[in-house]
Amino acid sequence: MDKLVIRGGTRISGSITASGSKNTSLPIIAATLLTGNGTFILRHIPNLRDIMTFTKLLQHLGSEIDFSDNTMKIFSANVQSIQAPYELVKQMRASIYVLGPLLARFGHARVSLPGGCAFGPRPIDLHLMAMEKLGATITIETGFIDATLREGKLRGAHIDFPISSVGATGNALMAAVLAEGTTTISNAAAEPEIETLCKFLIAMGATIKGTGTTELQIEGTDTLNAVEFHNVFDRIEAGTLLAAAAITGGNITVNGVEPEQLKAVLKKFAQAGCTIETTSNSVNLKSPAKLIATDVTAKPYPSFPTDMQAQWIALMTQAEGTSHIIDKVYHERFNHIPELNRLGAHIDIRKNQAIVHGPQKLSGTKVMSTDLRASASLVLAGLVAEGTTEVLRVYHLDRGYEQIETKLNSLGADITREKYNEF
Ligand code: UD1
Repeated sequence: MDKLVIRGGTRISGSITASGSKNTSLPIIAATLLTGNGTFILRHIPNLRDIMTFTKLLQHLGSEIDFSDNTMKIFSANVQSIQAPYELVKQMRASIYVLGPLLARFGHARVSLPGGCAFGPRPIDLHLMAMEKLGATITIETGFIDATLREGKLRGAHIDFPISSVGATGNALMAAVLAEGTTTISNAAAEPEIETLCKFLIAMGATIKGTGTTELQIEGTDTLNAVEFHNVFDRIEAGTLLAAAAITGGNITVNGVEPEQLKAVLKKFAQAGCTIETTSNSVNLKSPAKLIATDVTAKPYPSFPTDMQAQWIALMTQAEGTSHIIDKVYHERFNHIPELNRLGAHIDIRKNQAIVHGPQKLSGTKVMSTDLRASASLVLAGLVAEGTTEVLRVYHLDRGYEQIETKLNSLGADITREKYNEF
């Protein structure tokens, strides 16, 4: 296995370009299953473990895929299988994204139930509810979701999500674009990942109104075509890099971003004392002499994202005062806290609230990655910890950060990747 060995105490400063968004790539790649008309060319796709897992899944179904230099070519005319096997789904819950497109195009989909998860229960009931509303019969047996059509085709319907779900909105959209008639989605997720998926589907020939809002209206069509598409930047990677500069007293410019998508995060950095300057496609963050404790509540977009919560807690360990961090999306997403405390942080958990007492001097030791963003928070802590921090099980980090140590080293970090045996 790989670990990252971080020699702390360096300053993260300089200029860097954000990678393409992982969480946008996944639904877009899934949407290529909707048509066999032509070859898709997707640019700015990050080279990540999750993308490779998803590529394997589509190849298993029968898509022909070529991926090099962040460009993915996909030809899905010869899809042979409608079954997503456990071996691939267990590696990545987002595999559920093939449910909607397979059902809409082939009238049948079998997707293995995703396995356990590192932070709290993560149900898929809303995905299934949406498919049922659109005319699917769902059965769950022998560990598989089996979705078939009640009639010859999916039919437009009104889908009202009781809670905002990025994945369920994406699946509903991908199914509805090939359904007969009109579908309306209320309380749709308005995350940039869904906005981009809407734009992608529209480019393919779908008719969608309300893009970027929580009310979507889709007119079904029979014909969709392959397109060329340029993926958007990864807003969570960008936020993590900004946090790396902020926690080390640095000054960073992240290029290739849309600052609007980072608004809630930038507002919090400013409250914490950082100086933020933006252009149409870049953000500059200059850290203050002393960070100020700043409370955060993670909620659906446009609020502060749950995927930046762990990194924020790491940052607050270095801020002057006590900060309160609440996650209203995943109430139990606090696996990083015991590990941060092992580095010397002083963080309490009360119900769904983390209380960070700062500033605390951190000192390097071995810490364990438990999930993607938890790992990022440990890397951030390692950058300021005295001595050497070893972040084990780095495969979690590799799921979602493209060349993280190369990027951080180019900004002044001292990180090496080394092999180790767990036992
Ligand atoms: C996506 C992101 C993930 C991010 C999350 C919230 C991808 C690949 N992953 O995950 O990084 O943290 O959005 O922004 O894009 N829920 C249900 N039933 C369902 C589905 C979800 O109750 O059927 C709940 C979840 O438990 C959670 C909330 O809805 O409390 C939001 O989850 P959701 O937006 O669906 O997350 P994902 O799409 O899985």
